[in-house]
Amino acid sequence: MPHIVFNKNTPIKTPTSQDGVFFNFIAASFNFNKAHRKIEYKVGVTNENKDFLLTLKEKDDNIMIKADKVTRVTPVNIVKDALNAYVKAANANVLFSNTNNIHHKLEPQKEYLKDIEYFVNDFDTKKEIQIEIGFGSGRHLIHQATQNPDVQFIGLEIHTPSIEQMLKHVKIQNITNILAVNYDARLFMEFIKSNSVSKIFVHFPVPWDKKPHRRVYSSEFINEALRILKINGTLELRTDSRKYFDYCTSLLTHLPTGRITIDINKDLQVSSKYEDRWKKQGKNIYDVVLQCQHEDEEITVNKDFSFEKSVDFSHIKTSISTNSIVEDGFVLHVEDIFEINENSGLIKLTFGSFNKPVSKYIVINEGKVSYFQGNPIPTSANLKAHHKLKEILCHD
Ligand SMILES: C[S@@+](CC[C@H](N)C(=O)[O-])C[C@H]1O[C@@H](n2cnc3c(N)ncnc32)[C@H](O)[C@@H]1O
Repeated sequence: MPHIVFNKNTPIKTPTSQDGVFFNFIAASFNFNKAHRKIEYKVGVTNENKDFLLTLKEKDDNIMIKADKVTRVTPVNIVKDALNAYVKAANANVLFSNTNNIHHKLEPQKEYLKDIEYFVNDFDTKKEIQIEIGFGSGRHLIHQATQNPDVQFIGLEIHTPSIEQMLKHVKIQNITNILAVNYDARLFMEFIKSNSVSKIFVHFPVPWDKKPHRRVYSSEFINEALRILKINGTLELRTDSRKYFDYCTSLLTHLPTGRITIDINKDLQVSSKYEDRWKKQGKNIYDVVLQCQHEDEEITVNKDFSFEKSVDFSHIKTSISTNSIVEDGFVLHVEDIFEINENSGLIKLTFGSFNKPVSKYIVINEGKVSYFQGNPIPTSANLKAHHKLKEILCHD
């Protein structure tokens, strides 16, 4: 993580600019009931058209400046340049730095790696769509993509090294029909059109016997899968875990419609890394295929994250509760407050899905409220949390 340590001095005056980097504001942490807390500042920066925050905090008897994790931008050079510009503007005496930016490194080629915003706003294809959840080494996904060049595959994975490895194969083999996304499969399907997908593969999901709430399969997941599947489309589970097999079949046999097929030790054309491991151990492999039998209504994704009313920051900073709110389908937690001036500041929040909450800042500027770096991803959990937040901030 790039950072610079320098001798204590006073924060720079904002707004100002240095070497093309704009420093828009500085916000000081507001110590609500936290005695002895060290002072921390957030610096609002714009560099190369990207808005982000830097964190300034005490380190021993000195000051350290680094990127704020929640608002991190890429490539990292944008941040390094901003750190260097800050210490120059502050005329600081630098004690340590790992931000030398002599050779700007090229980002690895990521044409087929898409962020979730792409699926929220831009994804549209006339091709048949198939999805693989938790593709791991990518053996099965790559096999499917090469065998079915006319199908558009979407690979979901939350483990970054696996994604990078799979994308290397995509490049080496000139595969053009896989889009990879680093996102939790349980939340992803909300952004896919109803009746548009022909297959969803879930091969060897983590069984999570001790933390069942982390499992990919749940009633909600199955219902979302059925919504996005076309008639006769399939949700295909392959697992070595007898417990997971039993858990999933019990969920599936409670559905009002659908056709279920079960196989034991069925041979597929390709064997994944995990499958090889379990076969060597002589374990049984179970397949449970659910076939969709009905058409679903199209859903419209609500993307309204506005705050209609103005907010009095001077009142909110002293009155807002920092207790977590956990309600049906969402969480909301005020993590911290930073003051730009009497009437303006930042509120750091964690909110959204209980299983995968996100962190985000809101900015209150002379009464006007907005999300820093733009609105959250419009998942139903984020929208519910937003409504709660609006209720708290904008009540009369
Ligand atoms: C046991 S591995 C199986 C990998 C691969 N399917 C195979 O058969 O070799 C499970 C994979 O699912 C991924 N995973 C777990 N939970 C996930 C989720 N909620 N969304 C997307 N991927 C997930 C993990 O990172 C891991 O790579």
